[in-house]
Amino acid sequence: MHKSVLLKESIEGLNIKPDGTYIDATLGFAGHSGEILKRLETEGFLFAFDQDETAVNYSSEKLKTIGNNFKIFHTNFKNMKDYISVKVDGILFDLGVSSPQLDDAERGFSFHKDAPLDMRMDKRQELNAYKVVNEYPYQKLVDILFIYGEEANAKSIAKGILNNRPINTTLELAEVIKNNVPISYRNKSNPCRRTFQAIRIEVNNELGILESSLKSAFDLLSSGGRLCVITFHSLEDRIVKNLFKELSSDNILAKKLPIVPDEMKAKAKLITQKGIAPSNEELSENNRSRSAKLRIIEKI
Ligand SMILES: C[S@@+](CC[C@H](N)C(=O)[O-])C[C@H]1O[C@@H](n2cnc3c(N)ncnc32)[C@H](O)[C@@H]1O
Repeated sequence: MHKSVLLKESIEGLNIKPDGTYIDATLGFAGHSGEILKRLETEGFLFAFDQDETAVNYSSEKLKTIGNNFKIFHTNFKNMKDYISVKVDGILFDLGVSSPQLDDAERGFSFHKDAPLDMRMDKRQELNAYKVVNEYPYQKLVDILFIYGEEANAKSIAKGILNNRPINTTLELAEVIKNNVPISYRNKSNPCRRTFQAIRIEVNNELGILESSLKSAFDLLSSGGRLCVITFHSLEDRIVKNLFKELSSDNILAKKLPIVPDEMKAKAKLITQKGIAPSNEELSENNRSRSAKLRIIEKI
């Protein structure tokens, strides 16, 4: 079953006005979108994005049972500005993959279930996990595992991958990983988690588009509008934290000036100083929320 992460906190964070316009950048199975739509009157409107066709199809049916003042775009949220030409009152990003994507064995996201190496959120794109695993040169694999997976055994795993090509399925890859890490690591935690995360981030270019997508989203906000972002690992969170810091500070050059010109002034105020973590209750009910963090800013 899919449980939306930090649902109450993020919906409160959006500060929804019944006649406002909102964007859910990561529709998924419409947990958040459903709650937004319920809070909107007929003058309000919800736009939602997802690059996953299954999520779009499921959620358009689900949202119709709540209201009809919404529109869904089956595209990457990096294209948001091409689709939205109005200013909006709040935007939510709930990043990464959804639990239905992880649970659907065929998608190839899970190291517990055997499937062809895929991991594409958007099935229209060419790059998939098979290509990353079987075609990338050694050094590129090492970099990906090290940077996107923060995997200390990146070199030995990459070597193992090269020695065992072609690797066709998720469980074959899992076996290669297990055979190429120290025994202590094998026993401590699941040795596949970081490598699978790294390959998934590469396939979907998750970190490459994040900062520019958040900037585009921020541009679409009206004054007083809120941007809420839920992240699931430290790499994503660092990007959000740094951008929010930049947006909520005066330009560094302004320090030398007696009066700060408007264009150098902070563009936003931080609503969350440290980021909100899930409550103990949520943590006990939903394992996927383990490393989640919500950050919110408000446009000035
Ligand atoms: C964590 S889930 C969202 C769950 C949703 N908030 C809910 O409550 O059901 C993330 C969703 O965002 C989508 N997604 C991730 N990155 C995307 C991107 N760059 N563009 C469009 N959709 C994306 C995924 O396909 C997935 O369905």
